[in-house]
Amino acid sequence: MSVTILAIESSCDDTSAAVCKDGVVLSNVVANQEVHKEWGGVVPELASRAHESNIVPVVDTALKRAGVDKKELSAVAFTLGPGLMGSLLVGTSFGKSMAQGLSIPIITVNHMKAHVLAHFIDEPKPKFPFLCLTVSGGHTQIVLIKDHLDMQVIGATIDDAAGEAFDKAAKMLGLPYPGGPLVDKLAREGDPSIFEFARPRVQGINFSFSGVKTSILYKLRDWQEDEPDFIKNNLNDLCAGIQKTIVDILIGKLKKAAKQTGIKEIAIAGGVSANSGLRKRLEEVGIKERWNTYIPQFQYCTDNAGMIAITAYYQYLAGDFAQMDVVPNPRMKV
Ligand code: KG4
Ligand code: ZN
Repeated sequence: MSVTILAIESSCDDTSAAVCKDGVVLSNVVANQEVHKEWGGVVPELASRAHESNIVPVVDTALKRAGVDKKELSAVAFTLGPGLMGSLLVGTSFGKSMAQGLSIPIITVNHMKAHVLAHFIDEPKPKFPFLCLTVSGGHTQIVLIKDHLDMQVIGATIDDAAGEAFDKAAKMLGLPYPGGPLVDKLAREGDPSIFEFARPRVQGINFSFSGVKTSILYKLRDWQEDEPDFIKNNLNDLCAGIQKTIVDILIGKLKKAAKQTGIKEIAIAGGVSANSGLRKRLEEVGIKERWNTYIPQFQYCTDNAGMIAITAYYQYLAGDFAQMDVVPNPRMKV
């Protein structure tokens, strides 16, 4: 019997739905919320309202694109956490109601585990055990994956996440939210060797980005004192220098983790894995270190329901269903 799952992702500011049949993702629809741009960050109340208006057309489009009728569904999956409570509530309530209406089970998915399992949507798939650097707007983790549903965080940030560092640096440069993709774009025309920023000294395979942020803030303030148009005149080189600093920190810790565990199957995931500098460096270092490296397609790096669907598929096979009284968990751990 085939397993057809409708998955919903609404943990932050993207409303997404996907359909997966027997482990093959047939559709993945994402509606980005433009409403946050003018506020310089995600406004939780606006996010949940936008999810409410997006969710019906997004789910409808995902089913249509997959050529699947809702009566064919075996289960409805949704993100339970981590994320914003108001945003999670929309996907959770919608998923539960739809499953109840169709008399099918629900599957609750951990968003961070799903970022890792995005690697099982396409070929080549990593072999177990592998390491995954999961870098998003809210998290920076090195995860050891022993099996689809057996993973353990072996390193994490002690303060800000890498995506947050990109976004906050972008804000200091006067760029709109979310700044990460813009820093990436501007860095392509810049020289990364001109501007240096502080690198934190954190023991082991944990990360810290708050010092990088402070260093950028103070250096920009000093440089602007001497030259008021300093940012405008050096934007590409500043973006390249900031990106290099963040990528150096991420790759440095990944190398340490690979050495410590002896694992050479290395993956990256999460919104920041869309960064062209990080993708390029991982490939270069991978060749040098004789790693097999895995980088997801762009559409499966940032938040998407395709990754929720594939995770739910493995949970379905393991009989991991949830009860209808389950509630969102904004601080859910891997
Ligand atoms: O995984 P994600 O879509 O959402 C969370 O779960 O947080 O990650 C969003 C983060 C944001 O901080 C965004 O600026 C960053 O990923 N991001 C990037 C790029 N694309 C997205 N950062 C650097 N370069 C990019 N190309
Ligand atoms: Zn995410």
